[in-house]
Amino acid sequence: MNSFKLVSLLLSIFVHSATVNCDSNDPDYKATIEELIESRGFNYEKHYIETKDGYILGVYRLINPFVDQSSRSKLKPIVLQHGFLGVGSDFLINAPGGNAVPCNNSTDNYSLSKLNSTENNNLGFLLGNLCYDVWISNSRGNGYSRNHTTLNPDIDGEFWKFSIDELIAYDTPAVIDYILNQTGFSSLGWIGHSQGSMVMFGLLSERPEYSVKVKPFIALAPVFYVQHMKSFVRFAAKIPGILKLGRWVGGSFSASNLTYNIMKKVGCFSGRVELCDHTLFPFVGYDMGNTNTSRIEVYATKFGTTSSLWNLVHFGQNIKSGNFHKFDFGEAENERRYGQPIPPIYQLSKINSTSIAILHSKGDDLSDQEDVTQLIKDMQVPLLRNYLVPLPSWNHYDFLVAENCFQYINSVAIEILSTFYSI
Ligand SMILES: *[C@@H]1O[C@H](CO)[C@@H](O)[C@H](O)[C@H]1NC(C)=O
Ligand SMILES: *[C@@H]1O[C@H](CO)[C@@H](O)[C@H](O)[C@H]1NC(C)=O
Ligand SMILES: *[C@@H]1O[C@H](CO)[C@@H](O)[C@H](O)[C@H]1NC(C)=O
Ligand SMILES: *[C@@H]1O[C@H](CO)[C@@H](O)[C@H](O)[C@H]1NC(C)=O
Ligand SMILES: *[C@@H]1O[C@H](CO)[C@@H](O)[C@H](O)[C@H]1NC(C)=O
Ligand SMILES: *[C@@H]1O[C@H](CO)[C@@H](O)[C@H](O)[C@H]1NC(C)=O
Ligand SMILES: *[C@@H]1O[C@H](CO)[C@@H](O)[C@H](O)[C@H]1NC(C)=O
Ligand SMILES: *[C@@H]1O[C@H](CO)[C@@H](O)[C@H](O)[C@H]1NC(C)=O
Ligand SMILES: *[C@@H]1O[C@H](CO)[C@@H](O)[C@H](O)[C@H]1NC(C)=O
Repeated sequence: MNSFKLVSLLLSIFVHSATVNCDSNDPDYKATIEELIESRGFNYEKHYIETKDGYILGVYRLINPFVDQSSRSKLKPIVLQHGFLGVGSDFLINAPGGNAVPCNNSTDNYSLSKLNSTENNNLGFLLGNLCYDVWISNSRGNGYSRNHTTLNPDIDGEFWKFSIDELIAYDTPAVIDYILNQTGFSSLGWIGHSQGSMVMFGLLSERPEYSVKVKPFIALAPVFYVQHMKSFVRFAAKIPGILKLGRWVGGSFSASNLTYNIMKKVGCFSGRVELCDHTLFPFVGYDMGNTNTSRIEVYATKFGTTSSLWNLVHFGQNIKSGNFHKFDFGEAENERRYGQPIPPIYQLSKINSTSIAILHSKGDDLSDQEDVTQLIKDMQVPLLRNYLVPLPSWNHYDFLVAENCFQYINSVAIEILSTFYSI
């Protein structure tokens, strides 16, 4: 079935490679995080957060201009963390609107029903209007975080020698500790999509003391085990020698231009949604029934920024091993680094946080139900919320860009957050 889809994808690219479209004139098309924020009447601060290993992350703090300076310090901080090949704007581009308004944090049913509109599909802006102090993070290596105290990403291959392990060991705690320091709060909320949840599961396993600093942790399309992921990576990971080759080659990895160009050729932006389904399939899952098809080109420019090839190889290694191991450097180097030939695993049983909510879906090919079930089972703590999206067609990217994101995701997230407001 999946290989059939892959073949039809390749065929459709071939057949339609003559299609040419003009670029979109949507105001959000190719907009930067700064432009998106300003277009909605918000302001921002840009923070440069330095990690212990010298990376400098570009993190944006959303400022609601209707909140006066003295009240700002009372707003609970929330971090929005994108996934693999993602970018902070993933939380800002769902729909037009979401403009800054005087904020109030009431989330009773009456207020929720008033918020029920597509402009509140943009989680970042919604939270800014609900009196949260929203911090939009960017992982090392993406366009906003190509910065380091000594390394130059354009010249030094060393810059790209990171896997998910470094996001867990360095980026995630650096962002948390920096924001707690800036705000004076003792805890913050963390909303992570996909790999943005994986890094938090990893951190809470390795350093359970962070359970006190992260309340709540809301995992959208949670990823930890990846054995059953239905992605091109799963096919690729099975090719003999390919992971070793990837480790050896290293460097940066980007799928953005390739994806965008393929989508364009296939005709995604001119209404050929059927073929577009096939194009997007390897990346986000098959079903596009919840997508605003007039906006695909806006989303497409955000698909896939940059990370390291090792980040991708790390996924491949864990697809193969069936567990979440640390990066496999090969036996000799593993011995040197870990004191054992096989890389150690992240132990979910070490997690003691009772402030974890999981929002997942049956139609998510990248965060497969079997893998999610295993994740929930192996975390031996009770979940705050285990929410299965009641639409079976909901795909991996729908958690961010579905047309009914407020109704199915954001309303649930803000309900969970509201119980933590004054904690
Ligand atoms: C908060 O209340 C003000 C004044 O009643 C209103 O203008 C604003 O739209 C409300 N904000 C939200 C997010 O509901
Ligand atoms: C709000 O709605 C939910 C379900 O939609 C219901 O369980 C809850 O009792 C309602 N709360 C109030 C205060 O009406
Ligand atoms: C939001 O609106 C949709 C229809 O547009 C409705 O089906 C749904 O129940 C509403 N949800 C909430 C939380 O009010
Ligand atoms: C790199 O980070 C420094 C702060 O440490 C900042 O001044 C500089 O503008 C950043 N450069 C880029 C390209 O983001
Ligand atoms: C933040 O860090 C600085 C420098 O380490 C320290 O002086 C300051 O007290 C910290 N602020 C808070 C609120 O923790
Ligand atoms: C989890 O364990 C850590 C380390 O033992 C501890 O500091 C923290 O308070 C615990 N958290 C909870 C929520 O019990
Ligand atoms: C990818 O696209 C960006 C902007 O659209 C362009 O600057 C860059 O050169 C492209 N890269 C490649 C390898 O084509
Ligand atoms: C769908 O996208 C188009 C183009 O950006 C926009 O004009 C329209 O308002 C969007 N519809 C919804 C329901 O968000
Ligand atoms: C609303 O915000 C205030 C601080 O401005 C806080 O004390 C209160 O607990 C919040 N209420 C809810 C329901 O989030």
